[in-house]
Amino acid sequence: MKRFNKILLLAVVSAFVVTGTAVFANGTQEKTSAAKAETTKANIQRVVLNNNKPGGDLEIFSWWAGDEGPALAALIKVFKKHYPNVNVINATITGGSGVNAKAVLKTRMLGGAPPDSFQVHAGQELIGTWVIANRMVDLTPLFKQQGWMKVFPKDLLNLIGTKDGIWSVPVNIHRSNVMWYVPDNLKKWGVTVPKTWDEFFKEADKLQAKGIVPLALAQAWTVNHLWESVALGVLGADNYEALWKGNLSWTDPKVVKVWETMDRILKYTNKDAASLSWQQATDMVVKGKAAFNIMGDWASGYMSTTLKLTPKKDYGWAPSPGTSGNFIFLADSFGLPVGAKNPDATVAWLKVCGSKEGQDAFNPLKGSISARTDSDLSLYNVYSKSAAKDWASNRIVGSLTHGVVANEGFMNDFSSVMEMFLNNRNAQQAANACQAIAIQNGIGK
Ligand code: GAL
Repeated sequence: MKRFNKILLLAVVSAFVVTGTAVFANGTQEKTSAAKAETTKANIQRVVLNNNKPGGDLEIFSWWAGDEGPALAALIKVFKKHYPNVNVINATITGGSGVNAKAVLKTRMLGGAPPDSFQVHAGQELIGTWVIANRMVDLTPLFKQQGWMKVFPKDLLNLIGTKDGIWSVPVNIHRSNVMWYVPDNLKKWGVTVPKTWDEFFKEADKLQAKGIVPLALAQAWTVNHLWESVALGVLGADNYEALWKGNLSWTDPKVVKVWETMDRILKYTNKDAASLSWQQATDMVVKGKAAFNIMGDWASGYMSTTLKLTPKKDYGWAPSPGTSGNFIFLADSFGLPVGAKNPDATVAWLKVCGSKEGQDAFNPLKGSISARTDSDLSLYNVYSKSAAKDWASNRIVGSLTHGVVANEGFMNDFSSVMEMFLNNRNAQQAANACQAIAIQNGIGK
């Protein structure tokens, strides 16, 4: 009952945010929020051009807590070096992929108490949630001043921009479709890295017979994360993209097959998944309790930075089955919300976020690569170098779970569909429900 109330509350809050523009469309509130955005736009010109040395408090809001914290700490260190008079409040709310942080953020944004800057994914999570609701300040003057129009890839600029402006500063590029393993363990068990799901099922049977969990899984959002890798593997890149453009129906037999494949895969995962964090699923692989885990390359950051493991020797990686040559990407970014208390300090923070120095301090610890095209790859480990190579040569598609291809309304509804699927394992029903929520949330419109 308690859980149901929580879900209901979140649904109401998120519907309110996602439909922000519509709700406000005829009322004074929209005018107020748009007018506020205008004022801050004028302010931002002033702040950027004045190049003030800021002071005061700067609250940075993210879900990079605990094990996920070292990269952010390194970025803050660079900031402190350049802006020693600013007091940084590193406000983190634990929970992978922002499961908890995003809910708190919504409440604060709606309550008119935004942090000075917050972590948000480039793409629809930013544009389809906060920008359409007039909650972000246009950073175009900053991008021009810093020469960022040339150093960020054009496709990425398109994901953080609209015809009215540029709305956040990307700090990294993460890859979602990666399968992790320990080479020595696979050797010991006589198992090879599967290139397709059919190969996975064969290896998985062998592993299960030995009492090894074939695929480590964690709490609910990691099932969504797995789903996008399975969808890309089963559908291929063209059809995967067609889903988000509204050109492939969710009830198409090809998409139903994604759910059927999920059903099969889930039989090879650990029973206690729902109670584990993503790091605990990685631990299962590291400790030899499980053979594989599909997780974004923050898992490489965790294994190399926190667990002090050596990539290639202590842990290996491959594209998730069926996705070789394809790269599901996502980018974390920071912006300036309308109503932030200390815009001078926020602009200074954003300058560091977008700088080469900041990105090359942050990303080698994070497991991601720099969002800039001019980063110093000699600072990165062998995993990240290989990711950089793939980023430059693979077919790039966007992540669902991490905000690129769909707005938060869809993502929240998708999570509910997944919950239903985990209970009844009915592929056709999940496909039908997805078609309904895609229409409801304007996917492909
Ligand atoms: C993603 C985020 C990553 C990492 C991951 C696990 O959404 O983009 O940077 O934090 O969640 O929490």
